Amino acid sequence: MLANVKSVSVYGIEGYLVEVEIYVAKGEMPSTIIVGLPDTAVKESRDRVKAALNNSGYQFPGKNVIINLAPADRKKEGPVFELPIAVGILAATSQLEIPDLSEYAIVGELSLDGKVRSVKGCLPMALKCREQGIKKMLLPSENAPEAAVVEGLDVLPVETLEQAVGILTKSILPEKYRIEPDEVFQKYSEYEVDFAEIKGQEHAKRALTVAAAGNHNVILIGPPGAGKTMLVQRIPTIMPRLSLEEALETTKIYSVLGLLDAKKSLIATRPFRAPHHTISTAGLIGGGSIPRAGEISLSHNGVLFLDELPEFDRKTLEVLRQPLETGNVTISRAMNSVTYPARFMLVCAMNPCPCGYYTDRIKECRCTSYQIQNYSSKVSGPLMDRIDIQLEIPAVSYKELVSDTEGYSSEVLREKTVLAREIQNERFKDQTIEVNAHMTSKQIKEYCVLDRQAELLLYQAMAELGISARGHSKILKVARTIADMEESGCIKVEHVSEAIQYRSMDRGLQK
Ligand SMILES: Nc1ncnc2c1ncn2[C@@H]1O[C@H](COP(=O)(O)OP(=O)(O)O)[C@@H](O)[C@H]1O
Ligand SMILES: [Mg+2]
Ligand SMILES: [Zn+2]
Repeated sequence: MLANVKSVSVYGIEGYLVEVEIYVAKGEMPSTIIVGLPDTAVKESRDRVKAALNNSGYQFPGKNVIINLAPADRKKEGPVFELPIAVGILAATSQLEIPDLSEYAIVGELSLDGKVRSVKGCLPMALKCREQGIKKMLLPSENAPEAAVVEGLDVLPVETLEQAVGILTKSILPEKYRIEPDEVFQKYSEYEVDFAEIKGQEHAKRALTVAAAGNHNVILIGPPGAGKTMLVQRIPTIMPRLSLEEALETTKIYSVLGLLDAKKSLIATRPFRAPHHTISTAGLIGGGSIPRAGEISLSHNGVLFLDELPEFDRKTLEVLRQPLETGNVTISRAMNSVTYPARFMLVCAMNPCPCGYYTDRIKECRCTSYQIQNYSSKVSGPLMDRIDIQLEIPAVSYKELVSDTEGYSSEVLREKTVLAREIQNERFKDQTIEVNAHMTSKQIKEYCVLDRQAELLLYQAMAELGISARGHSKILKVARTIADMEESGCIKVEHVSEAIQYRSMDRGLQK
């Protein structure tokens, strides 16, 4: 007999429907063939389905069983289909009468004793189900929270094969897993850290607000303990809040990688990722035989922090260039290629010299000038080319550290970035870019108009401080953002003079 069960899988971060067809032929030699899975996964899946059925009080047919997973041209990850295969076998061998089987999409890995194990990618899968008009999704209970953000789909969590059978045969009443997406979004949209916790550092806070307002990439240079990490960790808190749509997009990536916290349906805060400098290229940008998203995609809509920048492998850093430009990354393999979103703000930090104290007010630097030169030049030029703001971070004084005055809170700083983003949205509404940082040279010419005095200042600064042409366009973009924060159409002298301050490496670090 023949049975058909609907299932879902993911490709990149999008779901696609899979038809699980089971054919059980009579009176032939016992054998099981699975078509449409990578070879290594077939045997494991078959054995697990067999054991799970036997241990749940059913039989795996001693006949010729053909299992076809369509479309066959996609190499699928196997375990997702074990529950639908088991259900299909029960239907095809008439061990069960399942009415309305076609109303369900079923996913789940099986353990030998018949428990249903979690799978990756249930959010994109659930989105696909809804898009295809499927009403009910039967899935591992651990994955129910992420699927439940999709409205208009009945999410039916199961712990065991037996429970799945009970629901399908209508002998037990299913318990739909329900959440209110808006409520969940609210609940998870608060950050655990705040800029108010940082004493002093008003200059750095201001610069980081400018960076967040125009989505400018930043590098922080300062001695150990100056508070670089502490500052950077708080950048997501001053970026405009995620929209529900952006939150879903980011959550999809975590769902596909199986990185969502249990019970947490949505990632509603901007991600902050800080991979160690020993990370591989594949780990950073993505890779593997079944292409997997990397840190840049986990940072999507948030911040990617590269601490100790000179310690990173140069080649690894240079592959960041393309995603920094396009906002996504394509991982190509012989058979297929996958594109993952990767639009993030890049924030880097480094010490000014090998010992760390070149710019420190108190501690003595023991490096030679050659060592200091060499240290900065280790940082990849092409990457520095993508960084608009170079910010020196001095250590705060003891007096500031112990003072009781609270600094600006993230909420107050965020108001400025929200305002500036609204102006940018309006400016770029007919363009492919959204933020000042992504302006092309043509757009810089059009939108970064300086008044006479501002022009004069920039001209002088270029000559006196030895700022390159590359630095020039960065100053213009950053000055545009500063003017936007003050709702000024024209870029004035104070906007340019502030933007010039954010080129500390071009100017030479202050000892
Ligand atoms: N401005 C500050 N306000 C409050 N605490 C600070 C400040 N700067 C540094 N600290 C304290 O010093 C510690 C080290 O800061 P950290 O951010 O790790 O420095 P860095 O990354 O520059 O080496 C922080 O955990 C924090 O406790
Ligand atoms: Mg640090
Ligand atoms: Zn030093």
